[in-house]
Amino acid sequence: MISWRRWRRISFLAFVFLFSMSTSCLYFIYVAPGIANTYFFMVQAQGMMLRDNVRTIGHMIRLYTNKNTTLNGTDYPDGSNSSEYIAQPTTYLPDNFTYAPNLPCPEKFPTMKGPIEVNMTEVLMEEVELKFSKYADVQSGGHWLPKDCKPRWKVAILIPFRNRHEHLPILIRQLVPMLQRQHLRFAFYVIEQTGTQPFNRAMLFNVGFQEAMKDLDWDCIIFHDVDHIPENDRNYYGCGQMPRHFAAKLDKYMYILPYSEFFGGVSGLTVEQFRKINGFPNAFWGWGGEDDDLWNRVHFSGFNVSRPDGDIGKYKSIPHHHRGEVQFLGRYKLLRYSKERQHLDGLNNLKYVPEVTLSSLYKNITVSLSPEQAPIPDY
Ligand SMILES: *[C@@H]1O[C@H](CO)[C@@H](O)[C@H](O)[C@H]1NC(C)=O
Ligand SMILES: *[C@@H]1O[C@H](CO)[C@@H](O)[C@H](O)[C@H]1NC(C)=O
Ligand SMILES: *[C@@H]1O[C@H](CO)[C@@H](O)[C@H](O)[C@H]1NC(C)=O
Ligand SMILES: *[C@@H]1O[C@H](CO)[C@@H](O)[C@H](O)[C@H]1NC(C)=O
Ligand SMILES: *[C@@H]1O[C@H](CO)[C@@H](O)[C@H](O)[C@H]1NC(C)=O
Ligand SMILES: *[C@@H]1O[C@H](CO)[C@@H](O)[C@H](O)[C@H]1NC(C)=O
Ligand SMILES: *[C@@H]1O[C@H](CO)[C@@H](O)[C@H](O)[C@H]1NC(C)=O
Repeated sequence: MISWRRWRRISFLAFVFLFSMSTSCLYFIYVAPGIANTYFFMVQAQGMMLRDNVRTIGHMIRLYTNKNTTLNGTDYPDGSNSSEYIAQPTTYLPDNFTYAPNLPCPEKFPTMKGPIEVNMTEVLMEEVELKFSKYADVQSGGHWLPKDCKPRWKVAILIPFRNRHEHLPILIRQLVPMLQRQHLRFAFYVIEQTGTQPFNRAMLFNVGFQEAMKDLDWDCIIFHDVDHIPENDRNYYGCGQMPRHFAAKLDKYMYILPYSEFFGGVSGLTVEQFRKINGFPNAFWGWGGEDDDLWNRVHFSGFNVSRPDGDIGKYKSIPHHHRGEVQFLGRYKLLRYSKERQHLDGLNNLKYVPEVTLSSLYKNITVSLSPEQAPIPDY
């Protein structure tokens, strides 16, 4: 029998062991957020795939046991070919396929083919500029509008940016032909952060929004990560009654939505919706959390989020050459007070001094950011 003293010593040693394990684990997450995150995601994704497989097997069993189906062993569902894909219409025409310069463009065109090729080869910005301004009628700043009908949406594409010069031309090369086929009016805004502070994706979006609205009365704003490349041209970059999450299926997450509140990558809101939720929070310095806060803001303001169906929301992500940005560890605390912060922190407490230059495919808004530029009263 173990004496009480000895038992105490063992439990003390166990405590010390577990404590050091957990701190080294936390340290690992802090220094290598990308790796830790990918690992956690893989574990989660495997759980989801397991659940999906169980569902598929259940479906097969049901088909086999249902004597009423005419199944002869060859055409049972194989998970990757379930009803959502079969349900897609084979023709892609609007109900009433007529349009004219004085009529609004339909949301669907026969030229929108569905899956499109993704070219991830690096290319010089000058090459892309030459291609689009010469042959695709794209004006300075990346402005374009359809001539054969009235564009349904005026869309400003905001791209937060730091140190990713090789990614930007890849993204623009993919987006221009896709948006032209969708007959949207559009322009690109690249908001680049300088200075030594951690990357603040959300605050860059707020700055980009204010600057874009000085150009034109845009009615739909797309918040686009530079390394997310759409794989389907039916992913319509217009807005709607509800805020939209375009990047529903990312290759880096094995084309599974990582969690149902996921709102990262590419999202879009009307100007009215974005003003109503007071924009993005400014308080998220470093990687992670700002998209979850946006999700909360959207729901606190009475909206739901819509997503494209099936394969339409597929994206490829460009592998990074750079070390990941530092992870923002304070995000969980901030997320607990989403509601209280929503009307204190956002578009209404933002101060900044931008440096704006115009290039042929985008407007370059360069800002140095620091927490003093978004003062927030204590609550
Ligand atoms: C079999 O299918 C037919 C037509 O789809 C339906 O009318 C009938 O009720 C089904 N029978 C059973 C036992 O499910
Ligand atoms: C399945 O069986 C039906 C009739 O029993 C037959 O007409 C059909 O061709 C079969 N399908 C396949 C894929 O073998
Ligand atoms: C899905 O089914 C269609 C026909 O129903 C077939 O042409 C296609 O190859 C299938 N795709 C996969 C991935 O199995
Ligand atoms: C199609 O267009 C015709 C005339 O242009 C109109 O009368 C009809 O209501 C339209 N149908 C639909 C479904 O929009
Ligand atoms: C991809 O882009 C590169 C550089 O612009 C070009 O040389 C290549 O032909 C493209 N590949 C495809 C498949 O379009
Ligand atoms: C949002 O979704 C919830 C649950 O599906 C529903 O009860 C609610 O009415 C929806 N809100 C709006 C504004 O559509
Ligand atoms: C934006 O402009 C700044 C100078 O104002 C320049 O240093 C930077 O490289 C430009 N960024 C992009 C993406 O063009």
